[in-house]
Amino acid sequence: MPKPAETSSRLADKFFRHMVGNMRNGVLAIDRQGGVVLVNDEARRLFRLAAGDAAGAGYADLLHEHPDIVRVLGGAFELQSLPNRAELRLKSTGTVIGYTLSLVRDDHGEPMGAALFFKDLTHVEQIEERERLRDRLAAVGEMAAVMAHEIKNPLAGIEVLAGLLRRKAPDHPDVQALVGDIINEAKMANAIVQEVLAFVRPVRLQVDRTSVADAVSNAVALADGKATRGAIVVDLSIPADLPLLGADQHQLTQVFCNLLINAYEALDGHGRIEITARMARGADDGALLPDGHAAVPTVLVDVIDDGPGMPDDVAEKIFNPFFTTKAQGSGLGLAIVRKIIDAHDGRIDMTTADGRGTRFRLTLPVGTRD
Ligand SMILES: Nc1ncnc2c1ncn2[C@@H]1O[C@H](COP(=O)(O)OP(=O)(O)OP(=O)(O)O)[C@@H](O)[C@H]1O
Ligand SMILES: [Mg+2]
Repeated sequence: MPKPAETSSRLADKFFRHMVGNMRNGVLAIDRQGGVVLVNDEARRLFRLAAGDAAGAGYADLLHEHPDIVRVLGGAFELQSLPNRAELRLKSTGTVIGYTLSLVRDDHGEPMGAALFFKDLTHVEQIEERERLRDRLAAVGEMAAVMAHEIKNPLAGIEVLAGLLRRKAPDHPDVQALVGDIINEAKMANAIVQEVLAFVRPVRLQVDRTSVADAVSNAVALADGKATRGAIVVDLSIPADLPLLGADQHQLTQVFCNLLINAYEALDGHGRIEITARMARGADDGALLPDGHAAVPTVLVDVIDDGPGMPDDVAEKIFNPFFTTKAQGSGLGLAIVRKIIDAHDGRIDMTTADGRGTRFRLTLPVGTRD
């Protein structure tokens, strides 16, 4: 039996409300007077609105923390043509959103309101950024490999010829000393070339069941041998029930070692380093979304120091190969870290506040790779 018209239209109404409410895109609609008619859950999440916030409010009041959005909505009834697909970064939260704006028209075609549809693009942006970096690394790597290869031969030549020269002047101690210096310098240059070649070679993983706690404690021992720790306290808190990772234990140790050495160097003998690890509970908590939707089991490891941090212009370059602020640095430490984490399908983020320490966060999938 067909339902009475009113009931079916009420059902349709309910259906539309739930559909819009649960959409994975944000929706925010206003009427001609600027009153907010509709805000769905995703819009509340992105604009950080509380549940009861919208009822009857004007959009300029409701969104006063997001002046960029107020400006977009403000133009809705004035613009000749509305943006088809635009992007903006919310100054308030740093989130990048892609949006479209459309007019809601009545039966006579008169605008009665406007609707903003939008999507959180932060995840997409991060992927693009990683791809850009990978391309850059590949280009720099190729050039470095060619140069290193070209330099290797003349360097070997210098070493051999200097050896001959030394034999030609056995009775001249000053010549012996000078030639000795030449050979040492050539050896040092050769070591740098080897390091560059090691960096540009592709990472090959030997995946095994790997304990984060073991990798970290091996890294502490390794870092203590390579750099001066002084009075720095290293505090480890890694839960015993953390799952083993499908990862290359040796290379993971190198990752932690490079991060620790940087922290030692930043702290200059005094301060505290904290290494913590935990499971990520879900996508909101930072778990990885390899296919863009479903979160996979993920471990987060933080390496935090209370050193001087770094200014913005340094922070944006730290993963670039050969970028260093140190007289003796090669600038490859973090580039290698990034390469290894990438090979594990993981992620690395850095947060710093100039003068208030630095946090490196590794996000690693638990799963094994073939
Ligand atoms: N924990 C930290 N605190 C402050 N600055 C840091 C920290 N870690 C890295 N940096 C900055 O990032 C730069 C790049 O680090 P990276 O490890 O890649 O190279 P490096 O330490 O300079 O040289 P290398 O590691 O090759 O010897 C450093 O020169 C430093 O300025
Ligand atoms: Mg370093």
